[in-house]
Amino acid sequence: MNAPRAGFQRNGTVEIREEQRETWGTRAGFVLAAIGSAVGLGNLWGFPYKLYSYGGGAFLIPYLVALIAVGVPMLILEFTLGHSTQRAAPDAFGRLHRRFEMVGWWGILLSFVIITYYPVILAYCFSYLWFSLKALATGANLPWAGEGLAGVTNAGDFFYKTYLGYSEDLALGGLRLNIAVPLALTWLAMYLCIFRGVRFVGKIVWLTVPLPWIMLLILAARGLTLPGSPQGLAFYLNPDWSQLAKPSTWRFAFGQMFFSLSLAFGVMITYASFLHRRSDLNNNAALVGLADTATSFVAGLAVFATLGGMAFATQQAGHPVPVQEVVKGGPGLAFVAFPYALAQLPYPALFSAVFFITLVTLGIDSAFSITESILAAIVDKTGWRRGPVLIVMSLVGLAFSLVYATAGGLNWLGIVDGFVNGTWGIAFMGLLQCLVLGWLYRIDRLRRHANERSDWRLGAWWNGLIRFLAPVTLGTLVWWSMFDDFASPSGFLRDAQGRWHAGNVAGLAVVTLAPLLALAFSSLRGAREAAPHPARPAAPFASGLPALVAAVASVAAAVCGFAAVLAACRGGRPGDPAALAALAAAALAGAVAAAAAYRHIRRAAASGADPAWSARWAGILGTVALGAACGFFLALRTSVAATAAAPSAPAEGLSAAAYGIIAAIGVLVFGGLAWSLYRAVTAGAREDAAGERI
Ligand code: PFF
Repeated sequence: MNAPRAGFQRNGTVEIREEQRETWGTRAGFVLAAIGSAVGLGNLWGFPYKLYSYGGGAFLIPYLVALIAVGVPMLILEFTLGHSTQRAAPDAFGRLHRRFEMVGWWGILLSFVIITYYPVILAYCFSYLWFSLKALATGANLPWAGEGLAGVTNAGDFFYKTYLGYSEDLALGGLRLNIAVPLALTWLAMYLCIFRGVRFVGKIVWLTVPLPWIMLLILAARGLTLPGSPQGLAFYLNPDWSQLAKPSTWRFAFGQMFFSLSLAFGVMITYASFLHRRSDLNNNAALVGLADTATSFVAGLAVFATLGGMAFATQQAGHPVPVQEVVKGGPGLAFVAFPYALAQLPYPALFSAVFFITLVTLGIDSAFSITESILAAIVDKTGWRRGPVLIVMSLVGLAFSLVYATAGGLNWLGIVDGFVNGTWGIAFMGLLQCLVLGWLYRIDRLRRHANERSDWRLGAWWNGLIRFLAPVTLGTLVWWSMFDDFASPSGFLRDAQGRWHAGNVAGLAVVTLAPLLALAFSSLRGAREAAPHPARPAAPFASGLPALVAAVASVAAAVCGFAAVLAACRGGRPGDPAALAALAAAALAGAVAAAAAYRHIRRAAASGADPAWSARWAGILGTVALGAACGFFLALRTSVAATAAAPSAPAEGLSAAAYGIIAAIGVLVFGGLAWSLYRAVTAGAREDAAGERI
């Protein structure tokens, strides 16, 4: 436990509050908990399906670029923010500046939306686990079992009709007890995992992280030894390089990476706030990012090897079902395709049970990481006792979750998930975090804070990643997707006949309500107000003016670019010179503004002053305009709502390129993971020798 000393201590870089705060106990406890949050349902059904849909093995290139250029650097940013302030997300932002608190609440509110539906999917998993165990105990057939293509339909009917009682319209219908009961149990399980505090969570994750890995390895080993598995893997890994030229591939790779690392919702900030003061940050972030990617990759091997085995088995039995007939994303993969495949193979009930145990244990620690971050945010702000707040929060969360335990619930789940996990939620929050911390706060302080206690150090390039690369990339995604949404010919909020799309309107309402509520929460007086930030003289406003002028010009050009791109898309002119010229001007002016702002900030820092507000805002506006120019350009090129082409059947088994990809992933991801682990272990040994083990 930390030294219980209150107040601020200046350590030359960033202020650390040395207050009594519970810690994880061990470094491994924290790392496992962060991995537990990252590794979740998204790894087992999101990643394999996206990889399959967007270029097979080729998808790994944008995914790894996203991970290395944006994911791990942002994870370091979140860890450092949480650790340096020792506060959950809202208070952590509030400690930097009173007005930033809202950013933290915004993320927390979006994570509250996630925690209303994530446990519902876990409840499906619990139900399917129950069906599998019952079949295992009684020796009966699995309830979704069937043969041939009719069997696939049967498995779909079992899930959608029998289990969900699914109706396609948005009317909710009555509560379905077969979902509500496991849902209540899921909330109870989440409650039991965290009610004793983070030190206990640090112990629970010794079960919830290794167990799904063991199960996944069993599924992968079993899948890979089935006859026909190479054919399945060919769907997964044979690269379709042409997909790399399609921007949608990059968009989905970045989106998947963000969700998978639990970035931007405040979870990682909160988890790091419970870290011991001397803990490593940089290497921990690398460990979490690489372990998450390794898990996704192995999950894909397990899924597609098994589907290959299924295709072979059904062919042998005379009722062939090719892999591409069953692969469907989202719930379809986990509750129809994969259960169907397992039912075609030996020991169906046993391996179904293994599969659903994997899903349940993968998901539970992701789910309670969200609850924990909301709980810590409330407790930090109000000073209320953790126990009662958790009980009330769990009951409120359960009440909201019940909305999805209805016939129309799955439709709403899809809509809300699409908004919160897509552009409107996660990507936008990530962008906001980078802009606020990169341009409005002295990010170099955070870098020094991270470096002072980390095994390996970040160079000044990290500042550049957070200020430019991450926000421009995320901005590109945000603007491009928003353009697609609103310019879509099928209508985003209203259809051609002027009828409202209730789902999209509600989704948009949820994501726009979040900042308003965040503003309200941040304006409430907290139990422990942040100590005033030590003031430094700021450079004069006029010194940042040239950068600001360029930034305003870039925004004006981006607005013109938007109008021109809209007209060009509607007129079917993807090479429209006016649109291209406006976008080029916006990009150029944006880059100039951001570079000038960066120069100003460096000069100000060298003279011991704070940068002028004009320069800070020039940096923000410039990067946003640059991102917008890139986003609109991509929208122009892809002209509304790009979807993945259905992958064609690969020739025969794994190609040579696929083997190359496996080797490259082996070296980069598993090699990188081994290296990070080695560094963590040797650092631990050094601390032991010095008698300062954390
Ligand atoms: N990373 C989790 C997954 O891949 O399933 C989901 C998640 C957890 C998202 C926590 C967001 C979050 F804050």
